[in-house]
Amino acid sequence: MTDTTTGAAAAPNPHLPPYAARGLKGRILSGVQPTGNLHLGNYLGAIRNFARLQNDYECLYCVVDQHAITVPQDPRMLAAQTREIASAFLAAGVDGTKQIVFNQSMVPEHAQLAWIFNCVARMGWMSRMTQFKDKAGKNSENVSLGLYAYPALMAADILAYKATHVPVGEDQKQHIELTRDIALKFNNDYKVNFFPITEPVIEGAATRVMSLRDGTKKMSKSDPSDQSRINLTDDADTIAKKFRKAKTDAEPLPSDLEGLSGRPDARNLINVYAALADMTPEAVITEYAGAQFGTFKPALADLAVAKLSPITIKMSQLMQDPAEIDRILGEGAARADAIARPIVDQVYDIIGMIRSRPF
Ligand code: TYM
Repeated sequence: MTDTTTGAAAAPNPHLPPYAARGLKGRILSGVQPTGNLHLGNYLGAIRNFARLQNDYECLYCVVDQHAITVPQDPRMLAAQTREIASAFLAAGVDGTKQIVFNQSMVPEHAQLAWIFNCVARMGWMSRMTQFKDKAGKNSENVSLGLYAYPALMAADILAYKATHVPVGEDQKQHIELTRDIALKFNNDYKVNFFPITEPVIEGAATRVMSLRDGTKKMSKSDPSDQSRINLTDDADTIAKKFRKAKTDAEPLPSDLEGLSGRPDARNLINVYAALADMTPEAVITEYAGAQFGTFKPALADLAVAKLSPITIKMSQLMQDPAEIDRILGEGAARADAIARPIVDQVYDIIGMIRSRPF
């Protein structure tokens, strides 16, 4: 950086956050749970955008293993799935040398700040979380306390870095709103202007990908039917078969989007096509107006295979070297910790917690 009036090197502005000084628009944090069956919804709703946003933002991408254990996990599977998610980030184009890729449990500030947020968030706020209600179902007395407190840990993931933007699928919007409420309440309670009010980034034609067996249900890792989702580890044949068998109605495709109202399965396939082809749903429906699903589904399958197989191949190559993935995660965690430590130390200070450890 050069001062244009004197020609001397200008001192960095201490009031600008480091990403602004680098000409970036903000700091991103996002996370994915290592709970198996990474699918097309995770890719189109979130992971694809991780790579797309990395030139404009400073990015931290986190495998949230502490969120995963809010429901029981097999320890060996958890480690393997953590590496699988990290590989998916990298295979989708995230640059692990420039951006920060790490797993949550390696950076202690997430859990430390989560405890503080457990004391900021209100029971009533947590009880309104639709994801908790869906996951707990009729069994709410028997689920873990962690599942209930889950959104406070998610707020800590974001605010431990004072992240300004969070790319996610539509289903996480309520959790980001809660993060904003926690930031506001903390700032108000302690009369500080400390935490930013984070913006969700919900972008693309497929921010809520639906099940291939039921267009009214979200595509999900936990759906017992494997036919309901395209897994990022599916091979080309499996992808093609699943799209061919996707539930649809008997009508041809209409000539505009209005003609898709009341046809959720068809609408979902149009959105997926649009997202994969980087088109608008309007443009897709214009192109396929009047077409039968017998024509549209093979075209969609070919497109999905063309877009997904390079990622699948790269993922399996990366997963052949678990030690290298662990190295990337460890290095990422050290860089993440260097950002989060001073922020969480300031939080302790604001709260009035004495931090005079000689170590
Ligand atoms: P998770 O692991 O369920 O999903 C990871 C990302 O994928 C998106 N997604 C979808 N997008 C479109 N259509 C779908 N059918 C679909 N299913 C999932 C999710 O919206 C998400 O962006 N709570 C988070 C993980 C998390 C997090 C965070 C996210 C923990 N801490 C901090 C952002 C910031 C979750 O369970 O995502």
